[in-house]
Formats: sequence, structure tokens, C-alpha cells
Amino acid sequence: MRDIVTIETRQTKPFDDQKPGTSGLRKKVPHFQQDNYVENFVQAIFDVAPKEPSKTLILGGDGRYFNREVIGRVIAMAAANDVERIVVGEGGILSTPAASNLIRKRNAFGGIILSASHNPGGPDEDFGIKFNTANGGPAPEGVTGAMFERTKQLTEYRIDPDVTVDIETIGQTNIGDLIVEVVDPVADYAVLMEELFDFDKIRALFASGFTMAFDAMHAVTGPYALEILENRLGAPKGTVRNGVPKEDFGGHHPDPNLVHAKALYDDMMRSDGPDFGAASDGDGDRNLIIGKGIYVSPSDSLAVLAANAAHTKAYAGGLKGIARSMPTSSAADRVAEVMGLPLYETPTGWKFFANLLDEGIVTICGEESAGTGANHVREKDGLWAVLLWLSILASRKESVRDILQSHWRQFGRNYYARHDFEAIDKPVADRFMAELTAMLPQLGGKTAEGFQVRSATDFAYKDPVDGSIAEHQGIRIRFENGSRVVFRLSGTGTEGATLRVYLERFEPGPDGLDRDVEEMLEPLIDAVDALVGYRRAIGRMEPDVVT
Ligand code: G6P
Ligand code: ZN
Repeated sequence: MRDIVTIETRQTKPFDDQKPGTSGLRKKVPHFQQDNYVENFVQAIFDVAPKEPSKTLILGGDGRYFNREVIGRVIAMAAANDVERIVVGEGGILSTPAASNLIRKRNAFGGIILSASHNPGGPDEDFGIKFNTANGGPAPEGVTGAMFERTKQLTEYRIDPDVTVDIETIGQTNIGDLIVEVVDPVADYAVLMEELFDFDKIRALFASGFTMAFDAMHAVTGPYALEILENRLGAPKGTVRNGVPKEDFGGHHPDPNLVHAKALYDDMMRSDGPDFGAASDGDGDRNLIIGKGIYVSPSDSLAVLAANAAHTKAYAGGLKGIARSMPTSSAADRVAEVMGLPLYETPTGWKFFANLLDEGIVTICGEESAGTGANHVREKDGLWAVLLWLSILASRKESVRDILQSHWRQFGRNYYARHDFEAIDKPVADRFMAELTAMLPQLGGKTAEGFQVRSATDFAYKDPVDGSIAEHQGIRIRFENGSRVVFRLSGTGTEGATLRVYLERFEPGPDGLDRDVEEMLEPLIDAVDALVGYRRAIGRMEPDVVT
């Protein structure tokens, strides 16, 4: 038995800023390095999370700066907080979807995932701590709310300071009645992917000369992609780029978009470039998909994957339903309509999909923020999306461009973009949202630049499974011609406020399916600005990022 005297109860003072956002607690590294900052939050997790169905905890992160340090502290605290088994990825590595899978496979009570997703890493960059519950999904609002309340009251935390474990070597360490298992971070995840997809078919695709570039962005998917794409599926060596995880992601943002994955994008636009390009983010849950000469927006990707899912073994029997976050374009809605499937519209945040998946009423989900996933785990899953695309390409034997164009011909095209205005003064952003909300009742019926407002609402969501309600999840302005603009403040930023403006314009076809996105959206931007004056209210004419 563990020597009970090594468990220490240490005094601490509560912090008032430990409210988890869309995906856990995210701050700059120096903020986390304040005395007891990590310990307080971890203690709040242990205090709030019920240790059911077992006292097993899954632990890992995306390998960013401060990852190893916090892994050590969590293990020492878990030893003093009634945890019986910790399953930790070798080197402290676990992608978010791999952690979700392990939580489910090992019947753990939850997992602590250390990541700030696509945000940069390094001594002055971002860090994050996220707790996932026993179903493998991000803690729901009720749990994160309770954690926040707990952080405001904490006066002590428990730790077993003598506990140190070598996490660089696979194997098991028994420390009294605590077992720490260091596991290969890739093994169980790769098995899961082999269960879902027909690897022989994809192997044959690569053997036929099909070429691909996968940019792991020096983040967590490097080892996963090397093992699955190159070792198991036979993609040529070099298919995986930037495959070694680095604490600072090589000085880049591990954000798979056209700004941060520009080198990949440029290669994909060359006529002699690869047939298929993809990338994933810091913790491996997001995906970027690019065909030769054509970018696939996440909203379109969700729609194409849903429409073609039956091409792979896991979904050959059909889908139960499709879910998308509210700001995601309604491209998937058309697919659901044609296929006779239910479509659920949830607030931003993967956690809102969990109940729908648990209940078995939805199979596939997606978000405009480059997240797609399904019922195999309770997180979005970057490599899963890539493998589903590969399965479809292997089966249909057409190019990404051809698949996308035939999709638009069948379902119409939702031209779409998101404009981000970053690091706005928080009071300015809050004031604008409050003014906009107050304006809503007067907007209905108004016209600007030929766009007439059909409805203007503050999005609230009632979970169809547990009846919980989430309010103020974004302002939706819908127009008579099927266009839509959504305003919402990001829940994941670490500096000031980020205003996201989501723009969507529908073209049913057959004409107008091959137009320039920016050109198509410009009149919509002018219309909505004329109606609500957002550019003047926030004092910015141009967005910082367009995705
Ligand atoms: C994370 C969450 C997603 C969310 C995205 C953007 O990746 O897991 O569910 O869509 O952040 O969130 P934000 O609040 O910044 O728009
Ligand atoms: Zn992520």
C-alpha cells in the first residue's frame, strides 16, 4: 500500500478566471505557470468528476511546451485523489480523438487532455487543460460550470509529491495502489481506424499511383499519420510532412487553414501537385481537405462525407442522422433532406453533439471550424475525416474536384466564408453584441442592397435528449433569398475578444455553381453592414483572418 504520509494537503487561494471556454481552460503559458494555477484547476476536476464507471483516468496532450511538466503534476495529484489507474501516452502524447477512444475502451471515468488545439505553443504561447467525461466527450456545460464554481472556492489541493513516473518508456509502474500505464499513443487508435475503414481498398488506391500530402504541422498527428498512412496503407515515404511533434510546432500555428497550411495549399494548386492534400491541427481533431486545384470548405466536406459515407464499411448500412453546429453552412441540410435523414443544429462546441451520438440518433457531425467526426468517439477526428475521404476516393475513382462539382450539381452550392476580427477590446465586442441583440426585433422585413431580412434571432438550443438549454449562442440573420449571416464571439480565444462573422449564400444551380466565393459574398457583406453597421461598431474594416 502507498505510504499515506506522503499525501500532502497544500493551502492555496482561489483564482477567479478559471472558467472553461468552448474547449477547456486556455491561457498563455506564463499564466498557467503562476503558483498553484494548474493545481487548483486539476483539483477542481478531481473534486467534481464522479469516478465512475471506474477509477481510471486517461492522460495525454498534444506535446506542446509545458505538456510534460503538467503531466507530472497531474499524476502526482491523481495519486492523492483516489485515482487507481492512469493510462498515459508515451512522452505525454495523445491526440484528442485517441484520448476519447481510450476513455471509452478502458471504461475510464474521464480524461485530462492538455492542449490549446490549433493555437501556437512555446514559453509565451498558449496552453490548455480540458476534461472529458466517461463517454469520451468534452465535459458538458453542467460539469464545466461545477468545475468553475469549485475553482472559486478552493482553499487546498492534494498531492503525493513523491510520485514520479518515467513517461518516456512504455510499461507499467505500480506506486502503492496506483498503477500508471504508459502506452503507445497510436496503437489503439490505429486498430479503431482499421475497424471502420477498408484498408485494403485504400492500400490499392496508393498502389495505383495515387499521391497525397499530409501536413502534420509538427503537431500530434505526426506519429499517427506516419503509422496509418505510410506504414499500414503503403503511402510513399514523405507523404507525411512535418511529422515530428515539436513543443513550439516549429514556430508555426498548428492551425490547418489556408493561412497556416499555405505551403500545402500552394503545392495542391500546382498542376503537377499531389492528388489529395490534408492537414490536422495541434491536438489532431481538426482537418483540412484540399483536392488538386480545389479547396474543400469544412461545411462542404461534411455534406460530401455524409452523402458518400456508404462507400465505406462502417457506414455501409446508412446514417442515423446528421448534426452540424449552427454557424456551419446548411450544405449538409440538403443532403439530409434528400436522404430522408434528421438534421440537428447545435451551438458551437463539439460537446453539444455528445448526447445526440450517445442516444444513437446521429452518426456524423461537423463544424465550420474544420471539425468532422462520427459516433466512433466523442470528439471530432482529423485523421478519421482524411480516411473517410480516402475511402470515398478509392471507391468512386474520381478526383476531389469531380466529386465536389457533382455534389453541387445535385444539391446546390452554399458559398461560405468566415471573417474573424481578432483581439478586439472585450468591452467593445460585448457592447456591439448587446446592441445587435437589441436591434433584432426591428430587423425583420428590412432590405439592404437587395437582400431582405426574413428573420433575425438570438440562437438558443434545447438539447432534445436531456432538455438542457443553451442561450445566446449567436445572432442569426436570415434573408429571403436563402442567404444568412451569423455573428458570434469566439469561446476559444486567449486575447481580448474575437468576433466571428459567418457568411453564407445559396445557389441552387444549375447556373452559378462555379463562381468566386469572395465575389459571391461581397454584396451580402455590404447588405449586412448597411443593416447593423458592424464594421463601424468594432472599428475595423477588414477581417484579420478569412477562412
Ligand atoms: C474548438 C471546439 C469546436 C469549436 C471551435 C471554435 O475547436 O472544439 O467545437 O467549433 O473550437 O470555437 P470558437 O468558440 O472559437 O468559435
Ligand atoms: Zn483541436
